[in-house]
Amino acid sequence: MISVKSAKEIEVMKRACEIAAGALVAAEKALRPGMSTWELDKVIHDYIVSKGARPSSLGYGGFPASACISVNSELIHGIPSKKKIIREGDIVSVDVTAEIDGYNGDNAYTFKVGEVSEEAQRLLQTTEEALYEGIKMAVAGNRIGDISNAVQTYCESRGYFIVEKFIGHGIGHEMHEAPDVPNFGKPGRGPRLVPGMTICIEPMVNQSCAQVRIMPDRWTVVEGNGNLSAHYEHTVAITDGEPLILTKSSLHHPK
Ligand code: MF3
Ligand code: CO
Ligand code: CO
Repeated sequence: MISVKSAKEIEVMKRACEIAAGALVAAEKALRPGMSTWELDKVIHDYIVSKGARPSSLGYGGFPASACISVNSELIHGIPSKKKIIREGDIVSVDVTAEIDGYNGDNAYTFKVGEVSEEAQRLLQTTEEALYEGIKMAVAGNRIGDISNAVQTYCESRGYFIVEKFIGHGIGHEMHEAPDVPNFGKPGRGPRLVPGMTICIEPMVNQSCAQVRIMPDRWTVVEGNGNLSAHYEHTVAITDGEPLILTKSSLHHPK
């Protein structure tokens, strides 16, 4: 069942989303070559806890950290580690979910560490723009498939590959709720959007193939050929008017 939130519930959820978004800003500030992904996770953990919230990922299905941190070919679900050192030129995807007062906010961003290659830059720009193409379709009366198709069309027209194995989702009391929000599909299909729905749109995009591999740690999801991958995510509320990006922050947001 898809839960529809009242205006009051959305206000509460906004707090969780602001904290999740603030954690990404804190990560951006702390990010520097030479640090480990474990150190970056600690910055995120401490930020969330300092706001009186809980990192929803910690312990989720046994996940051992507060954020998923995925470097270069790693797409999602990277486990922070003291042994994983971030280098100049890396792209680092950070995915943070926070819970406060019984509601969750979920967002992700792929950061550039210093100067990155032209090909990395283009992948990041396309994936972030695809997220906004999806968000544009998140209006009452449309269907989930309209969002899915917008994301897919945008990425594929630029020569990239949508990963189908992992998808966006509804969000609220739980981090993952109905409906599924795939990054691929046909316009006019799927559940109809109504004001009060809250969903996570999160394109997961590969450079060279649609396939992924799961690493022996059983979490880390990697681009099938070991090439680059990117991930951006926002929590969005459907309203009577424009889509409301609940996880908006000072991080770059394309038009
Ligand atoms: N935040 C992720 C999402 O966008 C889920 C992370 S679950 C974890 O859906 F267990 F890996 F943290
Ligand atoms: Co997420
Ligand atoms: Co999500």
